Amino acid sequence: MFEDTAVLESELDLPLLHRGKVRDVYEVDEDTLLMVASDRVSAFDVVLSQPIPNKGEVLTQITAWWLKQLERHLEHHLIAVDPDAIVRRHPELAATRQAWVRRSMLVTRTNPILVECVIRGYITGSAWKEYRQSGTLANEPLADGLRESEHLKPPIFSPSTKAEQGKHDENITFGQVVDLLGSDLAGQLRELSLETYQYGRKVAENSGIILADTKFEFGLDHSGKLLLIDEVLTPDSSRFWPKESYEVGRSQPSLDKQPIRDWLDALSDWDKSPPPPDLPAEVVQAAADRYEEIFQRLTGIQLADFQPPHFSEPQ
Ligand SMILES: Nc1ncnc2c1ncn2[C@@H]1O[C@H](COP(=O)(O)OP(=O)(O)O)[C@@H](O)[C@H]1O
Ligand SMILES: [Mg+2]
Repeated sequence: MFEDTAVLESELDLPLLHRGKVRDVYEVDEDTLLMVASDRVSAFDVVLSQPIPNKGEVLTQITAWWLKQLERHLEHHLIAVDPDAIVRRHPELAATRQAWVRRSMLVTRTNPILVECVIRGYITGSAWKEYRQSGTLANEPLADGLRESEHLKPPIFSPSTKAEQGKHDENITFGQVVDLLGSDLAGQLRELSLETYQYGRKVAENSGIILADTKFEFGLDHSGKLLLIDEVLTPDSSRFWPKESYEVGRSQPSLDKQPIRDWLDALSDWDKSPPPPDLPAEVVQAAADRYEEIFQRLTGIQLADFQPPHFSEPQ
């Protein structure tokens, strides 16, 4: 039913700067980018061949929904997400509107800082693996006796390097971030990330979602101002767990990709490296339903009824 509208790769008549795992990033002018979230999905770090209908829209609108609330507290890159506002600023984008509408953000171009600012509020995934082996997280000791998926009090800043496409990010210590960026900037990244995570966790909790961990990215604009960039507190950049089934001592189902992971995991003949197997239509549909459900659960609004927020338009 959605097949003809899902987008695996966008093709706009603008310089394409980057095709990431999910987003196609175009240059609009010297200081402005159009970030188009495709419907690509990855699992086990492999981009799959089938798009998940509405996924790009969900990621873009969730980011806009958060940034509207967060902008009282910190500066971010989002200029406009409402398509009329985007076209008002860049009339040349009107002709391709159908290709980018609802899945795109017009943003301030920055020099991204090459550190992924991960905040962990629960111990899971690679952090759980390291802790089980050595009692540490990013080489720094943690309390004894933690169990899988246990609440970390307080949450931990656990940065990693931003790896090139196809490579895995590497965990680094706060000391290494200081060496890379200096103590002022490193401290700012840690503070902003922790505060933003704490805010997001409270809001998500009220919707019955545990925000187990998340990753922020920051960049410096042409005047050197620090901005929160990229997607923010989405199911792709975070682990969202359903509160009702949370149980310490085991791994938790993911609210979004679980149908895909389960189906791939049950295959005996795929070694989790490219090329990936084709997903059956019912798995694609189950994942699409999950993304829409997350949007509705988090914001309290149906995706189709959501009006993109307005941002003050800089001159
Ligand atoms: N305001 C910005 N200025 C410059 N680059 C940005 C900005 N916001 C996000 N980016 C970059 O755009 C890319 C987004 O595409 P994505 O599909 O998420 O890529 P990735 O596979 O690297 O995660 C990321 O590399 C991110 O660092
Ligand atoms: Mg990304």
